[in-house]
Amino acid sequence: MKDFTFFAPTRILFGKGKIAELPGQIKNTADKVLLVYGGGSVKRTGIYDTLTGLFKSAGIAWEELGGVEPNPKIQSVIAGAELCRKHKLKAVVAMGGGSVIDCSKAIAAGVYHKGDLWDMVDKNDIKRALPVFTVLTMAATGSEMNGNAVISNMEINEKKAIKSELLKPVASVLDPTYTYTVPRFQTASGVADIMSHIIECYFSDVHCAAVQDGISEALLKVCIEYGKAAVVTPTDYTARANLMWASSLAINGLTSCGTGNAWSCHAIEHQLSAYYDITHGAGLAVVTPAWFEHILSEKTLDKFVSYGKNVWGISGEHPFAVAKEAIARTREFFTSLGLPETLRGLGINSSGLFHQMAEKAVKDDLANAYVPLNEDDVVAIYSSCL
Ligand code: NZQ
Ligand code: ZN
Repeated sequence: MKDFTFFAPTRILFGKGKIAELPGQIKNTADKVLLVYGGGSVKRTGIYDTLTGLFKSAGIAWEELGGVEPNPKIQSVIAGAELCRKHKLKAVVAMGGGSVIDCSKAIAAGVYHKGDLWDMVDKNDIKRALPVFTVLTMAATGSEMNGNAVISNMEINEKKAIKSELLKPVASVLDPTYTYTVPRFQTASGVADIMSHIIECYFSDVHCAAVQDGISEALLKVCIEYGKAAVVTPTDYTARANLMWASSLAINGLTSCGTGNAWSCHAIEHQLSAYYDITHGAGLAVVTPAWFEHILSEKTLDKFVSYGKNVWGISGEHPFAVAKEAIARTREFFTSLGLPETLRGLGINSSGLFHQMAEKAVKDDLANAYVPLNEDDVVAIYSSCL
């Protein structure tokens, strides 16, 4: 295991009705906030009314930025930062999924950035940020408990991640009942995203990380059991609760402690989103099994066998057969949730941009991935997904 620092300062308020405790946390630092939300789901579900009612009772004033889009765009970040500056707001409160939370984090940093905000994202130039609070409404990205935010600039087909400890939310409300209304496709995409976060760390060339491996295998099994249950019965509290907590633990640094390879599937998928604006988790469901097939070799076989036996319960004497069965089971699981198996299923019918996307994807440090990937490798993976 490599050396590491683990720092997860976010206060998690988990359970039904826990939103009532959020104003108390906010009041420690701010009495005037920016409230950020997406395309309207929080108004339809009543979460907006609940939170603004609590703000009124607690004497918290707010300005609003609604309409933040999936794969949040830099224009929303600019609009939010301007509101914060204009009204001298002291914190940002995100109410939504990963897109809303990521946009809120970029706003929190953007308030203090002098100059172009895309430049801030592009260079990961974060020196200071307003405190961020979140009310999570779908289980997927883990943004509620980490310091990452992913922002898109569709004018130049770029999707970039900023990372800073300053962006870790101060407190996050995780009420599983808020996820009952997440549509089937988004629920399934969220499950694929959570699993990918775990897989990206689990498939590592660092051996003997028994704690991280055991946690990862348990989290993957949770996703498989409860992912299916949540898709079948959206109001299954146990399923929604387990998925929600798994989403936070999958990417808060816990499973990546002491491992530390560059993430392959995310680099490959982020280019698909940057060019085609697709749903992140659905893209990962297509890319992950293809990446598995591309990297399976004598060198990676042991890890695939552990994955097959410990996660999928596959028994068998022949290691390659176990590995191939594990890959097949992964793909079947995603399609059983209603996710597409191919890029065509996501509306991508041509290989025309594969070289361009591969050129950008490898810049995400893919030379230092679990199995190093060059442009030809990435083009081959895109092609096998078509
Ligand atoms: O916009 P609204 O109306 O709220 O609807 C959203 C949106 O259309 C809807 N939704 C969310 N909660 C709902 C709901 N609908 C009904 N009931 C609810 N309770 O779901 C749709 C998708 O929401 P979005 O926030 O886009 O999904 P997700 O949480 O998957 O976030 C995806 C974004 O996060 C980035 C992705 O690249 C993508 O941009 N990621 C962020 C990461 C991070 N910060 O650490 C890591 C990830 O790997 C990922 O890259
Ligand atoms: Zn992801």
